[in-house]
Amino acid sequence: MITKDMTLADVVKEHPNTIGFLNGLHLDYCCGGHDPIEIAVREKGLDVEKFLAELNAAAARQTAQQDVHADIESFKELTVNEMLDDLEATHHVTGRQLMAETEELLNKILIVHYPHHGEMLTRLHHLYAGLKAELEEHFAKEEKLVFPLMRQHPHPDKEMLALVQELETEHSGAGDIIKEIQELTGQLTPPADACPTFRRTYTVMGQLFDDVFVHIFKENSIAFPEYAEQV
Ligand SMILES: [Fe+2]
Ligand SMILES: [Fe+2]
Repeated sequence: MITKDMTLADVVKEHPNTIGFLNGLHLDYCCGGHDPIEIAVREKGLDVEKFLAELNAAAARQTAQQDVHADIESFKELTVNEMLDDLEATHHVTGRQLMAETEELLNKILIVHYPHHGEMLTRLHHLYAGLKAELEEHFAKEEKLVFPLMRQHPHPDKEMLALVQELETEHSGAGDIIKEIQELTGQLTPPADACPTFRRTYTVMGQLFDDVFVHIFKENSIAFPEYAEQV
């Protein structure tokens, strides 16, 4: 039973099949998911009791998010080193693929739709460039600096915990840009006159965001806390 004093991060940890429901309401369960439900939900202008009833129903349902559920459940069983290897082999690879695809599509629609949507697309292009830079630099820092150090220091000291904390701060930075993009694009809703390439751009960008959210959730709420416990 999910209660209003739990955080959304706790909910997703225990009931990963609620991710689809939370994504639908654009509720943040990864970077900013550490407020109690009561506060997070009220901030969104939603009714807390109604939300809890629906969330509990979603938690009980076997949904299309079953794959994500199984993925997170098996991730939780790994050792810290296995988790780091897994993150690099999965989300760091798909993240880069989806970023490359999004970049190409976005540049195409910027040119083609400049006459009617120039202002919005320029802003989107700019925000996306910032997100891509953040994520690429962050992935490199994890792969080349922090994850190797975590493997070398299986029992974290203060300095290691501070480094891991830096990664979490960077996650929030990426999450903030994604929220800005979602606001700018009406939660990635293509305009009525959008061509198939425009729609495809939003679809791929949505896949990228979903992947980034699950990625950050696994790091912030599973891998990093597990590492912090190895003192
Ligand atoms: Fe990562
Ligand atoms: Fe990360």
